[in-house]
Amino acid sequence: MSKAIEIIEKPESISWEEITELLHKSYATRSKQSMTYLASYQTVEKTIERVGDGICYVALVDGKLAGTSTLSFKYNRKGQNYAEFCQVAVDPIYRGLGIGSKLTDIRIQKCKEANLNYLEASTSINASSIIDFWKTRYGAQMVG
Ligand SMILES: CC(C)(COP(=O)(O)OP(=O)(O)OC[C@H]1O[C@@H](n2cnc3c(N)ncnc32)[C@H](O)[C@@H]1OP(=O)(O)O)[C@@H](O)C(=O)NCCC(=O)NCCS
Repeated sequence: MSKAIEIIEKPESISWEEITELLHKSYATRSKQSMTYLASYQTVEKTIERVGDGICYVALVDGKLAGTSTLSFKYNRKGQNYAEFCQVAVDPIYRGLGIGSKLTDIRIQKCKEANLNYLEASTSINASSIIDFWKTRYGAQMVG
């Protein structure tokens, strides 16, 4: 039977502790590949700080927390508004179901509505699959 996948803004009923635990569990797979992301060990306070005034999305599978992503709005030194994408994670047991893609598509849609100059996503220089994902799916350019 197919699973019901829902992407929504983080409801009050899901705590920042649960989001942080999910980030640790999800990014552990990157640590095993010798890529240590802040999200693999950051504190609950850091998770909240990185969301800031932005949006924390959650993915629910049959009502259970399965993934998360963050979208925050910023200004650069030239005063241009842009979006920063970070903290995208899917619990290893729910991978390959299209949840990571959905968690990114919803952020792209939100950016289109907000009429931003550009969006920025950071990752490890060694994360070639993630860099390829952004280049091929969204036409992203590497800037540094
Ligand atoms: C990357 C991740 C979020 C993908 O989740 P998923 O639900 O399995 O994604 P999908 O089912 O939509 O996968 C389709 C493909 O697109 C990739 N993908 C999907 N969303 C992605 C995203 N936001 N960023 C990078 N790659 C993504 C997947 O890795 C997968 O590639 P593959 O077929 O070569 O393995 C998940 O593997 C994860 O949590 N990894 C650990 C944390 C991480 O690396 N986050 C990104 C660091 S910047």
